[in-house]
Amino acid sequence: MEKLIVEGGRPLSGEVRVSGAKNAALPLIAATLLAPGKHVLRNVPDLRDTRTFIRLMEELGVSSERRGDIVTLDSTNLVHAEASYDLVKTMRASVLVLGPLIARLGRAKVSLPGGCAIGERPIDFHIMGLEALGVSCRLENGYVDAKIDTPLQGNVIYFDIPSVTATENLLMAAVLAEGVTVLKNAAREPEIGNLIDMLNGMGADIKGKESDKLIIEGVKTLSPADCTIIPDRIEAGTYLIAIAATGGSGTVTHCVPSHLPALLEKLRAVGLNVSETEDTVTVSWPKKSKDSGSNQLQSVNIKTMPYPGYPTDLQAQFMTLMAVATGVSRINETIFENRFMHVAELKRMGADITVDGYSAVVTGKGLDGLSGAPVMATDLRASSSLVIAGLAASGRTEITRIYHLERGYENLVKKLTRLGARVWKERE
Ligand code: EPZ
Repeated sequence: MEKLIVEGGRPLSGEVRVSGAKNAALPLIAATLLAPGKHVLRNVPDLRDTRTFIRLMEELGVSSERRGDIVTLDSTNLVHAEASYDLVKTMRASVLVLGPLIARLGRAKVSLPGGCAIGERPIDFHIMGLEALGVSCRLENGYVDAKIDTPLQGNVIYFDIPSVTATENLLMAAVLAEGVTVLKNAAREPEIGNLIDMLNGMGADIKGKESDKLIIEGVKTLSPADCTIIPDRIEAGTYLIAIAATGGSGTVTHCVPSHLPALLEKLRAVGLNVSETEDTVTVSWPKKSKDSGSNQLQSVNIKTMPYPGYPTDLQAQFMTLMAVATGVSRINETIFENRFMHVAELKRMGADITVDGYSAVVTGKGLDGLSGAPVMATDLRASSSLVIAGLAASGRTEITRIYHLERGYENLVKKLTRLGARVWKERE
């Protein structure tokens, strides 16, 4: 096992390049099941989660090849339609093979993902939607055993909550159904737009991209894709927050600023200059505060919401920023029921945080308010909030269980080092 060592207290500066989005790569890899042939996916991040997902695809009979950030997937010869518990338990996004396998083969047997650190993570919306299309789903022995006796039939499906992967699963099932499917209260995250562009490029007929109502006219067959994964908005936001929390100034490149509407407004409210070009975002300090040396962050409140609201995947990182601000901030987590696992670890570093149900109240202690300590990562985004805390803190922070980090941040040590951080890995 490895741990990450961070020597903090150094303002980050310079440029950092964002990789392809993990949460776009996973559904787009799954979508290659829909059409036999060689698919080409570009800008695919090389992460623990994408490697796990590609291994799952190979279990199903897909052959894959990676050259740099280009992954070729040949799904001509699918050998079976079962996703085993061993793989699914390490990455719940494996449930994304359910829709395409049913659409392509008429059956699928996928292990129930089980919960994870941040919550129960049910898939009832996925099941409800598939059953609306005529799929019979039996839940037994920890598996979803799904099959169709007649071709999938289009239908109107309403999601009680705009679930990201449920929207993606039903999109992939509906594209080969007979007739029209309407997804209402669908999720609008940019990763869904990326999937819609890929599917339409394969010959699907999906309308309503970026809205909460998606209309899918089923088609008979699809052809292999050649498409590019969008930049990872959560990785971009993580680096912007890290630069701000260390009192630095820097630029995130190869990103899509319009995919971060809520975060950029919150960073401006915190008192930073935030400037955008077509594919970069720069955070810097207002001239007056730099001269007076009073680089201080204002405390602001956030409430996590489905896109385009403030993303839950940037909640933990923002909490660290508020821990080094100069007032009181209320952070309200509305998406997941247990997404404050980072609080106890941040408090070990001196943060003043009180949790009350789904809200956390953070009393900022200023940019030099945290001190390094040994801490433990619990889930992907919580672990990135600990890295940011280590960068902002004085002294040394040691973070264990960093396999969580490697699920979603490509070349993290290299990218942080380029920004001037003193960070490295050691064996535990
Ligand atoms: C996706 O998870 C992301 N994962 C998550 O990112 C992200 O936090 C989440 O969307 C919210 O934006 C991927 O895209 C692979 P949801 P997902 O279904 O689809 C409830 C990361 O760090 N719900 O949108 O699983 C659910 O409990 C990960 O990269 C049901 O009740 O999230 C939650 O409260 C973490 N029944 C809410 O909906 C269902 O069938 C939103 O969850 C499905 C979801």
